[in-house]
Amino acid sequence: MANGPGSSENWGTRAGVILAVTGSAVGLGNFLRFPGLAAEWGGAFMIPYVLAFLLLGLPVVWVEWSAGRWGGRQGYNSIIGIFFAMSKSRLAPYLGTIGMLIPVMIYMFYVYVASWCLGYAWMYATGQMRGVDNYATFALDYIGYTQDNGWVFMNPFESPLIFLVITFVLNFILIYRGVTRGIELFCKYAMPVLAVIALIMLGRVLTLSPPEDAPERTVLAGLGYMWNPDFAALANPMIWLQAAGQVFFSLSIGFAIIITYASYMRKDDDVALSGLTAASGNGFTEVVLAGLTIIPVGFMFMGDAISERLGSSFQLGFMALPNVFDQMPGGQFFGFLFFFLLFLAAVTSTLSMLQPPIAFLEEGLGVGRKAAVTLLGFVTVIGCGFVVYFMSGAVAMDTIEFWAVDMAIPLLALVILLMYGWVLGVDKGFDELRRGAEIPVPGFVMVLIKYVSPTFLVAIFAGLVYTSL
Ligand code: PHE
Repeated sequence: MANGPGSSENWGTRAGVILAVTGSAVGLGNFLRFPGLAAEWGGAFMIPYVLAFLLLGLPVVWVEWSAGRWGGRQGYNSIIGIFFAMSKSRLAPYLGTIGMLIPVMIYMFYVYVASWCLGYAWMYATGQMRGVDNYATFALDYIGYTQDNGWVFMNPFESPLIFLVITFVLNFILIYRGVTRGIELFCKYAMPVLAVIALIMLGRVLTLSPPEDAPERTVLAGLGYMWNPDFAALANPMIWLQAAGQVFFSLSIGFAIIITYASYMRKDDDVALSGLTAASGNGFTEVVLAGLTIIPVGFMFMGDAISERLGSSFQLGFMALPNVFDQMPGGQFFGFLFFFLLFLAAVTSTLSMLQPPIAFLEEGLGVGRKAAVTLLGFVTVIGCGFVVYFMSGAVAMDTIEFWAVDMAIPLLALVILLMYGWVLGVDKGFDELRRGAEIPVPGFVMVLIKYVSPTFLVAIFAGLVYTSL
């Protein structure tokens, strides 16, 4: 019900907005980043992860859903407008600007990685992944856009460039069509397909028998990597930071995506249950569908090496898992299914990342939606070009991932929590959250939002500074 300078767009249906938010949340973070982190920290990760989900994730989810719908009612859709409406201060919008730029940066990388997923799916489907003997060099060559015999000059139908173009154009078209006719429509079809593929993968993995030469590597033994707690690692503040970063990244919270999405809701639409549903859907996909699939299968075929080789999402997805598919019965087919799943999950996420700046261009600068999308299309093509040109190394990707995901996002989430808890006022926020709510939201969540979640975040940062001194 935007009535101010904001957009007049609204979601089509309640299920549509939940699917779009869940689509934004479920992505490469669930299927690659989470299993990678869990296996790397072996068994210790789930403790800070679950705590971060309950003490940070859920509170921020509700903050963003209710702040967004509140903002929409004031006539604002962008985080900048909403921060301004909350504080009436000239300073607040600057904080919002950072929040808006982070997802645009993530977009440029994410589209690039999504295109590798599509490329891999295509290569599995057409039998080109058979007989590769070293996936580590294969992956580097494949994404080695700037390698000596750069594929840019190869036959375009064999080069990853074509997949990057396809991914880019697909995103552009869907975003251009708008919230209802683009994002909502795509998520409505892609999310169920994604869920079915993930269940098939899970069924496949749970019925696999261990390799003949290593009968002790059962599914259950593999799960120990995620579930046998190792309390010693908890003394390292890094595990806490990475757990918080993962919870934020995975739920798509901390950078104004859900705020913007929720601003397109109608005045009395439920936000409490919708937020909980989307967050649980994301958690289920991450811990059950991805956790029970990727960690055991990685362990079965790679043994203890899983904890090193799964370290980064990139290595896990594009170098380690193809080895697994090679050894697994029906591996070519499941390889195709898996990378297609990743591609769908990635696109439903990228669709959300440009919405914060689109909302800002529309309401702040009075640019029409189509012009805003076109402008962002240009900016991101150029940005993505830079990423492609300079980022052929997985190491650079990991460094950027650390700064953008583990550092910037928890900081932005802290800003959002403080704006809501202290500037808007948690009471006012809760009036909004409870209006039209289909579930009761317990009062102690207010205490979490105002005191516990910010303190938790500050403590993590303090611990990090302390140990690095
Ligand atoms: N939540 C997505 C994932 O888990 C990533 C994402 C980040 C989506 C930022 C939107 C914005 O992969």
